[in-house]
Amino acid sequence: MYIFRKTADLERYLKRQKENGLKSAFVPTMGALHEGHFSLLAIAQEESDFSIVSIFVNPTQFDDKKDLEKYPRKDEEDIRALVTRGCDVLYLPSPEEVYPPDSHIKSDFDLGGLDRPMEGAHRPGHFNGVVQVVNRLLEIVQPSSIIMGQKDYQQAAIIRRLLEVTESETELVVAPIIREEDGLAMSSRNVRLSESERKVAPKIQETLQWVKAQKGKKPLELVLKEAVAKINEGNQLRVDYLEMANAQSLEVVKNWEDSEALVLCTAVHLGPVRLIDNVLI
Ligand code: PAJ
Repeated sequence: MYIFRKTADLERYLKRQKENGLKSAFVPTMGALHEGHFSLLAIAQEESDFSIVSIFVNPTQFDDKKDLEKYPRKDEEDIRALVTRGCDVLYLPSPEEVYPPDSHIKSDFDLGGLDRPMEGAHRPGHFNGVVQVVNRLLEIVQPSSIIMGQKDYQQAAIIRRLLEVTESETELVVAPIIREEDGLAMSSRNVRLSESERKVAPKIQETLQWVKAQKGKKPLELVLKEAVAKINEGNQLRVDYLEMANAQSLEVVKNWEDSEALVLCTAVHLGPVRLIDNVLI
């Protein structure tokens, strides 16, 4: 596996690969890699002639300084795991390599309102930072495809929109959520949970499935109210939001009939972390 820490070196390498007619598939990450990330790498390997993973804990997308400081960093372990899994290229830049001093890196794209509800409403500036870094990474890597997880449903929808407004030739592939055996969605932040917090965490996914099963039985607003109470009972989990949205526009809906394709999204505080999950309905 080639490891590039300098953007100019990576660009030189990628130019050669392109001249040789090779197609790349790109998996942007913030590291502390788990099976969710590796599932994206496996898709990238199927989709292309060579796979590129980036590990960069992007400061501009953290609305909470503490979360940034505490974000797990495991470069050595990640490198070993990527080698074992046959990744071709790792881009492991410093902040200065992604955001060169004195450069203006664009962050204001017309996201058509996709960035307004849910994560957008609860984490001010978060999606500006995400589109800023993903757009910058795409400019550098110029991959044939970019692979992202449904775990961050709203993020993937926003990146689809970014690719449209920038008239990018890169294709977006959205990959299914990889879960622990008890249903908890894998996340780099899960390592920060205590034993007792980890035990109650599957309640999030259980409750999303319960909501899904209520379709056609009870009014949506009532179901969502009961679902929030179910998650909050026991006083360890605390719902930040639990909302049903149109799966395309992400507009929040109040009735089951408001859209044919729905996505139920939630963010829940648990001990020191905030976990997100979703289910398509
Ligand atoms: P990160 O949280 O490291 O996630 C990197 C990619 O892995 C994202 O596309 C995310 O949706 C996917 N992913 C995370 N957990 C997953 C799971 N359990 N199953 C399937 N896929 C999963 O998302 C980011 O980093 C950043 O915002 C980034 C896009 C890299 C920009 O900084």
